[in-house]
Amino acid sequence: MERVRVGLVGLGTVGGGFYELMSRNAGHFEKKMGTSVEIARVAEIDTAKASRSVPRKILAEDYRRIVEDPEIQVVIELVGGTDTAYDIIRSAIEAGKHVITANKALLALRGAELFALARRKQVELKFEAAVGGGIPIIKVVRESLVGNRIDRIMGILNGTSNYILTQMSEKQLPFADALKQAQEAGFAEADPTLDVSGGDAAHKISLLASFAFGGWVDYRNILCDGITTVTPGEIEFAASAGFCIKLIASAVLVDGKASVAVFPALLPDRHPLALVRNEVNAVFLQCDFLGPALFLGRGAGANATASSVASDLGDLVQSLILHARRGGYPFDPSRALDLYPDSEMEYRFFFHFITANRPGIWAAVTGRLAENGINIESVHQKWEDPSKPSDLYVLVDEAREGQANKALREVCSESGISEQSRFYRILPL
Ligand code: HSE
Repeated sequence: MERVRVGLVGLGTVGGGFYELMSRNAGHFEKKMGTSVEIARVAEIDTAKASRSVPRKILAEDYRRIVEDPEIQVVIELVGGTDTAYDIIRSAIEAGKHVITANKALLALRGAELFALARRKQVELKFEAAVGGGIPIIKVVRESLVGNRIDRIMGILNGTSNYILTQMSEKQLPFADALKQAQEAGFAEADPTLDVSGGDAAHKISLLASFAFGGWVDYRNILCDGITTVTPGEIEFAASAGFCIKLIASAVLVDGKASVAVFPALLPDRHPLALVRNEVNAVFLQCDFLGPALFLGRGAGANATASSVASDLGDLVQSLILHARRGGYPFDPSRALDLYPDSEMEYRFFFHFITANRPGIWAAVTGRLAENGINIESVHQKWEDPSKPSDLYVLVDEAREGQANKALREVCSESGISEQSRFYRILPL
């Protein structure tokens, strides 16, 4: 029986999960593919800790023992971060090895260079675990849906943010308590600012959009708003109007260009993504032939992520054994995707104005919205303590984002209206 030899770098949460999966399920590769897969070496800086689960004879402190081993065909990078992880992946590719990673931050930052290098060296750089945790969505957009034009992607791609919004909405938990629970459960990034600022979702949607639409999307060029400003009052008002608030990673083709963005949005309660709770991730695709399709599963945590790493390994085993697909997928990251201007995107909006309590405030708000051609659907004021600022919630008809931004700036320039006022985009069913 043929054998594929693998080197694993990093035995933290995800690396440990993957090692356990292989200890339990390596036999599946033999049964399903007729090939045995051997974890030939594990590199981990903390060798003392690693030796509790990994035999000493295959343990190494230095990842170079893997990269320089001519017998190892596949390197799995699960150390995270963007410094050492970059050195590991780059040197593994240079050495002619196929690479699997879960590192969305690194791929979003330096993927254009690493994918191009992998192509030149005729090896695969695979990353199923980097987007949507255990949901096999990269394979779906690259292979399963190859016959379709994908017109729209709407994703819940950050488990931590979704967990926080769910807990705030269902249990009236304060933001900080919900974040702490997500950290304790191991969903959050080492730096949780990446989760709640939308940065982690931006890394993931830029990768997903790149491969769904066939051109590189640099995450630094996309609109990215997180959930730190979302208040319990906004969630409560949205619920009373039939919406929930979700952090949405969106990519849509408009006039042949891509609009890619991350923002907290209002979704109708009946929207399929409205039902996605806690750390669960989901990707909703709109395709020209398939139509709508929903993919849902655990988006964070050791086991779900390990499942996707194993899926990449299964693919590599298949192509190594069949001696097929040297050179990987013909994806050219040097071609940047044309981005559609954010200011031209059209949405219904939910404005939240934080205002003083005195005559003329409604007139200023409605006047400025009207001057900008924005049509009001409904207005609701939450005014509990006259000595404190009040919350003025306004739902408006479809408008361009540029109009909404200009109107918001102008309203905020009026006296008695806080600069913290903001809007959310409302997404259709
Ligand atoms: N911190 C990420 C999340 C998990 O909360 O979704 C891994 O991508």
